Amino acid sequence: MGWLCCCKRPDGKKKRKDTTWRIFSLKELQSATNNFNYDNKLGEGGFGSVYWGQLWDGSQIAVKRLKSWSNKAEKEFAIEVEVLARVRHKSLLSLRGYCAEGQERLIVYDYMQNLSLHSHLHGQHAAECHLSWERRMNIAIDSAEGIAYLHHHAIPHIIHRDVKASNVLLDANFQARVADFGFAKLIPEGVTHVTTKVKGTLGYLAPEYAMLGKAKESCDVYSFGVLLLELASGKKPVEKINPTTKLTITEWALPLACDKKFKEMADPKLKDSFIEAEVKRMVLVGLACTQKKPEQRPIMSEVVELLKGESAEKLSNLENGELFKPEQASSCQGTSGPNSSDVITEEKDSKEDTIEEATDSSETVPSVR
Ligand SMILES: Nc1ncnc2c1ncn2[C@@H]1O[C@H](COP(=O)(O)OP(=O)(O)OP(=O)(O)O)[C@@H](O)[C@H]1O
Ligand SMILES: [Mg+2]
Repeated sequence: MGWLCCCKRPDGKKKRKDTTWRIFSLKELQSATNNFNYDNKLGEGGFGSVYWGQLWDGSQIAVKRLKSWSNKAEKEFAIEVEVLARVRHKSLLSLRGYCAEGQERLIVYDYMQNLSLHSHLHGQHAAECHLSWERRMNIAIDSAEGIAYLHHHAIPHIIHRDVKASNVLLDANFQARVADFGFAKLIPEGVTHVTTKVKGTLGYLAPEYAMLGKAKESCDVYSFGVLLLELASGKKPVEKINPTTKLTITEWALPLACDKKFKEMADPKLKDSFIEAEVKRMVLVGLACTQKKPEQRPIMSEVVELLKGESAEKLSNLENGELFKPEQASSCQGTSGPNSSDVITEEKDSKEDTIEEATDSSETVPSVR
């Protein structure tokens, strides 16, 4: 494929960073995953299934086997691989390689031993309490830096479009790697937004993205704000409080933040082992990110700065700003508050709750899903 030539510089020398990925044969991946054995399956997402595997050199990999491939999608596969291959950052999970043989399209990543943040907050590892406050703070800062890199430094800039806890993976040292920015589309220079199919997960979707399908960096900021609130509190993005009422995490958090009840907001699993000032910081930033008006949200580089506590003045301006005035608290109880997502109609499990909704077909960028 022609785009593979991007691995080489015009002078013919290979760039060091591009030598870190390669093409795998189907045979090699079949052998690594015991022929995509069910026992090797790590999970399933919108793209297909992910399998654990081990290569001949002993290294562990995660193989994403993409489902129902069509000719149209093959082009997108190349786009996705090109995006992933170019982007390298310590807090992003870049691909290790890929395989495109016959109908098979596979993407190979390093295996992340501690799986996803979702699995530790709400899934199979939730009972094990591995997420100390220090780890949570590092996960927040590292993943913010990864997304900030996509927004501000990757060329062209990249919108993730699916920021959520199952797309924040944790390595053996619980360091965060943001994954699955694979279907993020490249934003051509001078274009401020692209209209595409609405992708994302209920509870994380910015209201304007869910309604209009306009993907902008501020949509990722919104999703990241939900993730911060989730990380601080251990709550799900949408909780069912009784058979008829659902509460989004922002609706739950804003009144408490207005009343400065930050201690009460920390995940009960932390018991008393947390730094209240940092919980406050994470919550304030999370709520700033989930403001309904996209232009009022911070940009990701500001999110990093705020989370690191590098700007006491900005944090104090945020804390004393309109958002946290007591009247906000009373106006956002229940599911119809100012920050509620208009599309949340029912609560589903994480595997089922990805929505996809075609918008303006003339402008729609084809989807790999
Ligand atoms: N490199 C990896 N190492 C370890 N586990 C992984 C890796 N990649 C994916 N997983 C896990 O495999 C499961 C399926 O991942 P997948 O990305 O297909 O779905 P998802 O993240 O739930 O949804 P989406 O398709 O929107 O990304 C998830 O639980 C994910 O955490
Ligand atoms: Mg994923």
